[in-house]
Amino acid sequence: MTTAFEPPRPPYAQYSKLGELHLSDYLAYFKAMRRNPLEVWGEHHFSIRMAPFRFLGRSNLLLSDPEGIHHCFVTRADNFTMNPLRQAVLKPFLRDGLLTAEGETWKKARKAVSPVFTPRKVNAFAPLIRQVCEDATDRLAEKDGQIEPMAQFMVDLTLDVLMETLFSGDEALDKAEFTQGIHDLLELSGVPHPFDLIHLPGWIPRFGQSKARRVIEDLRRQVTRVAVARRARPSPEEEGRAADFLDLLLGAGLDDEAVTDNLLTFLAAGHETTARSLAWTLYLLSRDEETRERLEAEIDAAPLDETDPSDWSRLLPWTEAVIKESLRLYPSAPLLARTSKEWDLVRGVPVPAGTDVVISTWLLHRQRDIWDQPDAFIPDRFLGEAAKDIPRDAYLPFGIGPRVCIGARFAMMEMVIVLACLLRKLRLDYAETRDPLPVLKITLQPDTKVEMRVNLRSQA
Ligand code: HEM
Repeated sequence: MTTAFEPPRPPYAQYSKLGELHLSDYLAYFKAMRRNPLEVWGEHHFSIRMAPFRFLGRSNLLLSDPEGIHHCFVTRADNFTMNPLRQAVLKPFLRDGLLTAEGETWKKARKAVSPVFTPRKVNAFAPLIRQVCEDATDRLAEKDGQIEPMAQFMVDLTLDVLMETLFSGDEALDKAEFTQGIHDLLELSGVPHPFDLIHLPGWIPRFGQSKARRVIEDLRRQVTRVAVARRARPSPEEEGRAADFLDLLLGAGLDDEAVTDNLLTFLAAGHETTARSLAWTLYLLSRDEETRERLEAEIDAAPLDETDPSDWSRLLPWTEAVIKESLRLYPSAPLLARTSKEWDLVRGVPVPAGTDVVISTWLLHRQRDIWDQPDAFIPDRFLGEAAKDIPRDAYLPFGIGPRVCIGARFAMMEMVIVLACLLRKLRLDYAETRDPLPVLKITLQPDTKVEMRVNLRSQA
């Protein structure tokens, strides 16, 4: 039996003792937090199910226990609301979009936006996604024999997919200007401001954030302009074109402000997450020859050209299992954070009001007593009988409960289409001198460019 590939991970933190933090621990924590928040976890965090602790005067609960998770995020979701730190990072940009809205505003928004993500509506985007992927594959194929940075390739590709599905290349939008704004924002954001980390109130100015705010305002203006122009146009049926997300949101009765909030939310929530997951998947495949050959064989044998791309995942179960396993090892949105409104008891542990409850899916997906060979790349665990053995609520790349990712179906469909289009024509070999390590900057990013040599595949 061959041993499964185990990708390298960031080093473990060394703390004095859990629950008894010393000054040196605080210093180590802040250093790690600035360098790479994944480095705050010690080896023991991968075995602990529930870790209540106090930090900087606040009560915290680190949760890797599926039943405890179910309690906080499903059964008592009403008592565990959005965490202030997460809101401080995201709310200035996304305002009352679905990701950051709260209470009644969120309920109304989720109800209004849900019809936009029905399987039928999502499937209708598949041919367009395929087209964008085929074009990108052809451009990459021209680089046969060369080395290309695949992390950037995926950022560009998933942005193209979203631009097409959100706005269908609407001429009211200056695509180059908008894309530049998104890239600027990616550069400027991503790490929580130190003031937010220590929970200073929002009215205290955060230095270095005025540029980000300007970029955000500019992006908002551009999106609102497109929404206003689109309202004045005939409907997609009248114009004989396929509806995009903008049409669907306008059709759902949202006002211009809410349409802007949600379009930017789909971009923020659906762009980098998908791009990172795809880059990690390519990296894993290039390090595991057997898995890659099996995936190529599956893609070569499937009647893809005769099948609507929304149905490709049914034809490509191994490809889908590879993506699921990649999302387990590298959950691209790896923190689910809430704060309790009132006192509660979670699996026998008292949780005072105001407790920050955090699920790190980086920890949950690698828990020693939940997963066999937790750090190894084994897509088989998501197939057949093995998949049934995965405990409920132990695998949460798209979150859980009422606030579970509304774009999960779209993202899975997109990732299958991207891999099928790319790997049908190309073989991509990792070409850097060292393997990438994940760095947490809101999403889980590789710390290399994931450079790969592009090779045309000669089809048998
Ligand atoms: C691999 C890709 C993706 C991953 C890993 C991912 C992950 C997640 C996670 C973990 C959450 C829950 C956050 C929380 O509970 O705090 C979430 C929420 C959300 N996601 Fe995704 N997502 C992905 C793609 C997408 C796409 C493509 C879209 C839209 C086009 C999208 C839209 C959203 C929205 C709107 C929410 C907020 C839902 C709510 O609070 O009601 N996501 N996502």
